[in-house]
Amino acid sequence: MHTRRPLLAAAALFCVPLPLLGQDVPKRSPTWESHCAVCHGPDGKANTEEGKKKGARNLTDAKWQALVSDDRLASSIRRGRDKMPSFGKKLTEAQVRGLIEEVRSLVR
Ligand code: HEC
Repeated sequence: MHTRRPLLAAAALFCVPLPLLGQDVPKRSPTWESHCAVCHGPDGKANTEEGKKKGARNLTDAKWQALVSDDRLASSIRRGRDKMPSFGKKLTEAQVRGLIEEVRSLVR
């Protein structure tokens, strides 16, 4: 019965990624990985050594997110805030916009 083979192949394909479902660390952008993760962590919770030292914000706090505008986030990322360094010279406007989307996606 050679008509069954494609089905088996499809079943095998579905089996491969299954173990990956157990990972709940969300995938971050390369920009995040190289500029933000050191303090805010891969999950935005700032549960990192550097993040604790600097007092970095837990960006997954939905109550806080509801209170801050995109413009405020953009300005914090560009100019820095308290112990957070400024990234205005390191990132393009599109990257800053992308990071704001990424921050917002942490509570969705
Ligand atoms: C050296 C550590 C460090 C790095 C790297 C860092 N941050 Fe921060 N971040 C902080 C600290 C500290 C605060 C808390 C500042 C405050 O709330 O006064 C903060 C706060 C924030 C806030 C909240 C600002 C606000 O307006 O309340 C956002 C958004 C943010 N960071 C995003 C980012 C993004 C995106 C990156 C990567 C481009 C990044 N951070 C990189 C330390 C860092």
